Amino acid sequence: MELESVLVTGANRGIGLEFVKQLIKLPKPPRFIFATFRDENSVKALEKIKEESKETKIILIKMDVGDAEDIERAGSLVEEKVGESGLNLLINNAGVLRYQSFPEITEEDMLFHFRINTVAPVMVLKKMLPLLQKASSRKTGGMSVSRAAVLNISALLGSITELTEDYPEKWLSVMSYRTSKAALNMAMRVVALTVKDQGVLIANMCPGWVKTDMGTEDGILELPESVSAMMETLSRLDESHHGTFVNRNGETIPF
Ligand SMILES: NC(=O)c1ccc[n+]([C@@H]2O[C@H](COP(=O)([O-])OP(=O)(O)OC[C@H]3O[C@@H](n4cnc5c(N)ncnc54)[C@H](OP(=O)(O)O)[C@@H]3O)[C@@H](O)[C@H]2O)c1
Repeated sequence: MELESVLVTGANRGIGLEFVKQLIKLPKPPRFIFATFRDENSVKALEKIKEESKETKIILIKMDVGDAEDIERAGSLVEEKVGESGLNLLINNAGVLRYQSFPEITEEDMLFHFRINTVAPVMVLKKMLPLLQKASSRKTGGMSVSRAAVLNISALLGSITELTEDYPEKWLSVMSYRTSKAALNMAMRVVALTVKDQGVLIANMCPGWVKTDMGTEDGILELPESVSAMMETLSRLDESHHGTFVNRNGETIPF
């Protein structure tokens, strides 16, 4: 996997931060990593990686993915840096999860998840698409992450097929989260079919249940384990994965 540039949303902690850590350790690391955050007080770890990174220029960008002006500004900043090379990889990672069951569920809770987990990745992609297209047009052949790609960090909890009666009841209480990730998968499937001739690979991937603030200490996977599996899978994504929903190992998850 050889990438000139990567944009990771929600890169200040959890899975996003681990992606930045592992990307700079690639045999041929990217020239640019655009790492987004929301709060200046949360970038200590990112700043440290930035200082220590030798080959990769890590550019921190403040971006609330739910804020149209932030997305606009981030797009311009990325464009300024990458120029005609375009952007190789967008990792739509930022996401939110709150517990609320039916019928206590509120409109606010459902819209909150929909806005950040579904609408925001589409809006970020919409802004970055011309840059991804630029990167794609510089290479010929099949689809790959080294050419141009979007990785959407989705979740098994968004699989409608997987949610059967056997599922522990506790997990019904993440109703809004589930709904928003199912909608993300559909939105990105539509996008994938829309841009299928443009050489920009679009994939939805579940990282597994990971020990992060969101995944809690109960998570089954350590961060490095989940992200290294996703990195390995990323390196072998091709057109057969375009518009699909896979786990960290690249195996299909039913929608
Ligand atoms: N952990 C798991 O077990 C698991 C399983 C399946 C899928 N996922 C998915 O993996 C992704 C990363 O999750 P994680 O476990 O790393 O969660 P996390 O530790 O809670 O981190 C979430 C990240 O998203 C950012 N974020 C939240 N709202 C945002 C907004 N409005 N604008 C910009 N950034 C925002 C956070 O920034 P702040 O620090 O500013 O809040 C943080 O960087 C999510 O999409 C999640 O749904 C996680």
